[in-house]
Amino acid sequence: MDAPEWWRNAVTYQIYPRSFADGSGDGVGDLPGVTARLPYLRDLGVDAIWLSPFYTSPQRDHGYDVADYRDIDPLFGTLADADELVERAHEHGLKLIVDLVPNHTSEEHVWFQAALAAGPGSPERARYLFRDSVDDNPPNNWKSVFGGPAWTQVPDGQWYLHLFDSSQPDLDWRNPEVGDMFVDVLRFWLDRGVDGFRVDVAHGLFKVETLRDQVRAEAEEPVRGASAGESMVELTEVDEPMWDQPEVHEVYRRWHEVLAKYEGDRMMVAEAWTQTPESMARYVRPDEFSQAFNFAWLLAPWSAQAFSDVITGTLAAVEPVDASPTWVLSNHDVVRHTTRYGGGAAGLARAKAATLTMLALPGSAYVYQGEELGLEQVEVEPEFRQDPLWVRTGEPGRDGCRVPIPWSGTAAPYGFGPGTGQPWIPQPDDWAELTVEAESADPDSTLSFYRAALAARRTFATTAGDDIELLDLGDDVLAFRRGPVTVVLNCGAEPVALPSGEVLMASGPVDTELPADTAVWLT
Ligand code: NOJ
Repeated sequence: MDAPEWWRNAVTYQIYPRSFADGSGDGVGDLPGVTARLPYLRDLGVDAIWLSPFYTSPQRDHGYDVADYRDIDPLFGTLADADELVERAHEHGLKLIVDLVPNHTSEEHVWFQAALAAGPGSPERARYLFRDSVDDNPPNNWKSVFGGPAWTQVPDGQWYLHLFDSSQPDLDWRNPEVGDMFVDVLRFWLDRGVDGFRVDVAHGLFKVETLRDQVRAEAEEPVRGASAGESMVELTEVDEPMWDQPEVHEVYRRWHEVLAKYEGDRMMVAEAWTQTPESMARYVRPDEFSQAFNFAWLLAPWSAQAFSDVITGTLAAVEPVDASPTWVLSNHDVVRHTTRYGGGAAGLARAKAATLTMLALPGSAYVYQGEELGLEQVEVEPEFRQDPLWVRTGEPGRDGCRVPIPWSGTAAPYGFGPGTGQPWIPQPDDWAELTVEAESADPDSTLSFYRAALAARRTFATTAGDDIELLDLGDDVLAFRRGPVTVVLNCGAEPVALPSGEVLMASGPVDTELPADTAVWLT
């Protein structure tokens, strides 16, 4: 039998380039910074890297507003730096996937500039969703994920749709030119050797053709099914004429064929905030995406029952389409899981326990830079906030999970770049014990825990199969057996008796009992 595709059991580390490592000393992370830190990622024990966007961009949404899909923003380096990064990553045995942003371009993309210049009714406008006013109002009642109306008016009176910031106009995927352009972009990066794509807003490309109003209760504020932060996301059944339309799957079938022509299991993972596990599973049918992020796991509260429900629902949804499940607890859009679980020592204990549980589940896991150090969400001072969500709504936004990584030393910038210049968001004064350097020297650190857990995972993850057996150890306890490993997570307030077995890994101290907020792998 052929070996399973590499991504089925991979642990992928998400890098947010502007906040990972600064090679140039301008206070913003860059590609040479990432290349220099590849040995760190290899030693951490991950299998792959996902890089958030590094393309030419005015950075209104930190690169999720792309002006040129085939070039690197000077802030992050050059195409030669990208080639170097791909090559070095492969030399270190790491796969590398890049972010693709097909729902919208930047307002600075040549297509949008041409659309503005060409005027109503032109083929240039037909690549985007320009519409006339309706009774002096925007064409419909849709709201931007980042707050405010989803339409902006241009001087000649027409409006264009932007489900995110006004600097991110949505493309019209019913126009074949758009699809053809993205196939070229896929090939451009596949030819350069990338192992796959994380596809941004994968559920958003097609809108209901009539662009009819969204039906919603009067008082209801945020648009749901969105991806801009935990507080904005509720996976409930709501009317969503802008998300998850059936036509979108044709795009991914075409892309699947493009990838299949390349050597080496190239893959695609969908960022699709759909409403149910079943709708998520439609994106991972055998001829579409390889994987989709499982946001239900990240949204689950600290509850054994909630975790158990997500696991059962996820496995049941992906099994009929023969897809491998995925698990994720943090990314650049949500409050870090240490903080979501309460912060402080208890928050960290829970975060490690949830991570250990995730790393034993079938399928693959995604970890976000800095979680291996136990970083918490940072309260960023308003003058440093840059998230368009903050700009449009006055809500704190997502900058607090994007604070530059502390590498070494005892004061900011903690080795983030050469010299002593401050990074683009100031780091907290109390991070001296959370640097990679400090944690590497401490066998009890969060980093040492991640390294040990990832090493222990390698002993069974690829061979233990995709089935689990849930065990009943009480209401506050999530327990399951997968292959040779029994996993027990105590979400309650009291210690619980452990089943017999050798401790392979634990997220905190254990003896014959498993303390609260702790998980263990037994063999
Ligand atoms: C999802 C990305 O993860 C987020 O950071 C971005 O703001 C939106 N998509 C818009 O591209």
